[in-house]
Amino acid sequence: MVIGVPKEIKNNENRVALTPAGVAELRKASHTVYVQVNAGEGSGFSDEEYIGAGAIMLPTIEEIYGIAEMIIKVKEPIAQEYPLIKENQLLFTYFHFASSEPLTHAMIERGAVCLAYETVEKTDRSLPLLVPMSEVAGRMAIQEGAKYLEKPSKGRGILLGGVPGVKPAHVLVLGGGIVGAQSARMAAGLGAHVTLMDVSLPRLRYLADVMPANVDTMMSNEYNIREAVKHADLIVGAVLIPGAKAPHLVTRDMLKLMRPGTVLVDVAVDQGGCIETCRPTTHEDPTYIIDDVVHYCVANMPGAVPYTSTVALTNATLPYVMQLANKGWQQACRDNAELKVGLNVVEGKVVYKGVADAWNLPLTAVNEVLQEEVLS
Ligand SMILES: NC(=O)c1ccc[n+]([C@@H]2O[C@H](COP(=O)([O-])OP(=O)(O)OC[C@H]3O[C@@H](n4cnc5c(N)ncnc54)[C@H](O)[C@@H]3O)[C@@H](O)[C@H]2O)c1
Repeated sequence: MVIGVPKEIKNNENRVALTPAGVAELRKASHTVYVQVNAGEGSGFSDEEYIGAGAIMLPTIEEIYGIAEMIIKVKEPIAQEYPLIKENQLLFTYFHFASSEPLTHAMIERGAVCLAYETVEKTDRSLPLLVPMSEVAGRMAIQEGAKYLEKPSKGRGILLGGVPGVKPAHVLVLGGGIVGAQSARMAAGLGAHVTLMDVSLPRLRYLADVMPANVDTMMSNEYNIREAVKHADLIVGAVLIPGAKAPHLVTRDMLKLMRPGTVLVDVAVDQGGCIETCRPTTHEDPTYIIDDVVHYCVANMPGAVPYTSTVALTNATLPYVMQLANKGWQQACRDNAELKVGLNVVEGKVVYKGVADAWNLPLTAVNEVLQEEVLS
């Protein structure tokens, strides 16, 4: 198959959809890979490395879209890319169609095959192409929290791990899923005392088993949170209720209970945030202060560490890319139910219920689309 990797042109996006290692794997399976000049620059991969791995470099995005049967990307196409997309061209990337009606209509009109990273789903309902970014954000929450706890950043002036003879900081993590577990482990590794809360007892049992000794697990409820915020130095918001806005677990009045210089990192900001006073911020201006409490609420945390994020993402996407390249999208989706639920818009038809519901569009059964392909 002929595969194209354009340079991401969305503002501040430094990730790239394929590393030189990925190019080498595809070349080994006799596929042709075109990479746009400088596509890997933001993630620290040079054109020479891509060439060394067997890629052919093309100078413009138009040439990449023009030649490729499958485009692999990171972010959804933006308006200036719409006209470049060809009928029947396979696009494998994050789309988040339910949050953009213009994108949905544009992809229907272009007649492309849109396979969305975010809806590829395993049989245990986990989302393998979202997990890596949650892992990055969870670990980063502690790194950022530690930084903003320093006095020049308006924090309490406390070192997470303390030193011999000085108590470590106390980290409260709300939500013990992917983000929360990574945060707790990272904070514990630095020597902090960690309290990890979740509403799921089976999840708490599991976490209590696997977490280091300096992590306590606790049921998440208003009473426990109200008590815990009083002596927390760093609070990480990491809850998710699938398909819903995050609940406000830390309410505005609780800020008054916190000590001045406490740091809040609300990773769940992309779902509205689980801290009532959270509003989205950017890497350029990541924090603001309310009632002497530092708020860090960056909605795309992994964007600050593009090398790690690119490698983590492509580790997860490459096995699917290989299946799509080896078999073509129809056969790959027939053979692998995980990929099949990734199909969102196929040659003008919406085949994913969440997208059809979001924009009141007719839904075509995905089996029908694949069946049509079998017959044609
Ligand atoms: N800001 C960023 O850059 C960034 C990056 C990645 C993920 N995220 C966001 O981080 C959030 C967490 O993602 P995840 O992958 O860890 O999700 P996850 O589904 O793995 O974990 C969510 C956890 O929250 C728990 N939960 C639900 N209600 C709760 C409550 N009331 N109190 C305590 N825990 C509760 C669930 O039981 C679950 O264990 C999501 O909103 C996700 O979109 C943000």
